[in-house]
Amino acid sequence: MLSFPVTRGIRGAITVDVNTEAAITNAACRLTKTMMAANQVDIEEIACIIFSVTQDLDAGFPAAGARLAGLTETPLFCTNEVPVPGSLPRCIRALMLVSTNSTLSEMRHIYLGEAASLRPDLAASTGLLELDEALSPTPMPSVQAPTYRQTILNIVPYQAGKPISELQREQGLTDIIKLASNENPLGPSPKAITALEDSLGSLNIYPDGNCFELREALAQRLGVSGMQLIFGNGSDEVIKMLGLTFLEPGDEVLICEPTFSEYAYVTHLMGAKLRTLPLASHAFDLEAMSLAINPRTKMVFVCNPNNPTGAYVSQEKVNAFLAKIPDNVLVVFDEAYYEYVTAKDYPDTLSYVRTGQNVVVLRTFSKIYGLAGLRVGYGVAPKHIARLVHRVREPFNINGAAQIGALAALEDDDHIRRSQEVNNSGKSWLYQELSSLGLKYVPTETNFIFFNLEQDSQAVYQKLLGEGVIARSGAIFGCPTWLRVTIGTKEQNHRFIQALKRALDR
Ligand SMILES: Cc1ncc(COP(=O)(O)O)c(C=O)c1O
Repeated sequence: MLSFPVTRGIRGAITVDVNTEAAITNAACRLTKTMMAANQVDIEEIACIIFSVTQDLDAGFPAAGARLAGLTETPLFCTNEVPVPGSLPRCIRALMLVSTNSTLSEMRHIYLGEAASLRPDLAASTGLLELDEALSPTPMPSVQAPTYRQTILNIVPYQAGKPISELQREQGLTDIIKLASNENPLGPSPKAITALEDSLGSLNIYPDGNCFELREALAQRLGVSGMQLIFGNGSDEVIKMLGLTFLEPGDEVLICEPTFSEYAYVTHLMGAKLRTLPLASHAFDLEAMSLAINPRTKMVFVCNPNNPTGAYVSQEKVNAFLAKIPDNVLVVFDEAYYEYVTAKDYPDTLSYVRTGQNVVVLRTFSKIYGLAGLRVGYGVAPKHIARLVHRVREPFNINGAAQIGALAALEDDDHIRRSQEVNNSGKSWLYQELSSLGLKYVPTETNFIFFNLEQDSQAVYQKLLGEGVIARSGAIFGCPTWLRVTIGTKEQNHRFIQALKRALDR
């Protein structure tokens, strides 16, 4: 808090579903009130508000919403937004100038609903605000949070693929396909379903905290000892446990971008420093990474194949890379899509684990095994690493159902084979279709394809949503003209391509 007031700007944005006066007024009213409440601003402290609207909103002035919020005398100004890449349709933006004692970093910019995608770095706080508003119509109390760890301000909250139920609520659609989170379109392993059904009667019993049966079966399949396995509530949790075990402020973590967001999350969570390099040919640039290692580098993540691009690094590149990495650096290979890989020169990273190097390999039951909802992932590590990581593990982090489902799915070779076949044929078909639309894609070793629309992908993403098809806009990965789509069943792929053609006016 400053001891004297200064003038500062609070930014905000909100979208509306329809171009009507009522929708625009209500949305602007909600935005104005939320910006005031979140920043504890009184009416007399507002010098003015400048609103802009996208050109598809001409049915009313957002200023009417601010008047409705009680700003009867405040100067207000409305204008049209200049179209820029990455802008959202039907969007109202606001710049509120206020007199305040708050410091710059204390100002809370408010991006509500769909507009949250304009500022993913602010998504958590706006999400909370929305929830707060929905739960209580009264203004937020003017209570400050207790002091908190500043490092968490670096965390960009995870943006998950839009859930089917959310799109149902928003657009009233019933026939929806989700190709946004790289789940198995064939569903869970049928063996896992049967095993889970048979196990429901024992939900009153705590799970085996050591995952004995799953551990034994998986260790045998992988040719490692059970002690080398670290189970997590999804491989997400294994990533977090690695951070909790090894990272301290002052340490550096090295990754390439764009990639899976959990590496940045755990780095910031632990107050370590994230260093990023660009991808090379859409895959991790191991050569540049080896050159960027310095005495503070503690951990290196290699997402292979990489999410969101689907590209991979070869055995030869990994061999050369590991030969150059100092012993005190932990190299983590995230192989979430391992079972989908078809490339002959994909690296056998477990061989490095078996020889006791500081290498951890991450895999998951969320993808080909079709158990994303159960949350089971694992790391394979040399014993000297696994022993340390086990210290930070929660006692019952893998629930009983998850252990039973994962064990059954592990042994369901038919389901794995069918999933691979469906993925491979879907991949070839989608390649052909994208090529015939003149769209460039990254050849993939996963169950998703990243391709370049050469235009604002957020707009196409929205049009696909309108047709009940949930994909992933590249904007969240810093690639605003790209789209990522999960390879689905034959029917889903056809529906996706038809919807894409309409979205592109082809
Ligand atoms: C590269 C990568 N690693 C890890 C995960 C997380 O998987 P889990 O569901 O096991 O937490 C994902 C999920 O999308 C992923 O893409």
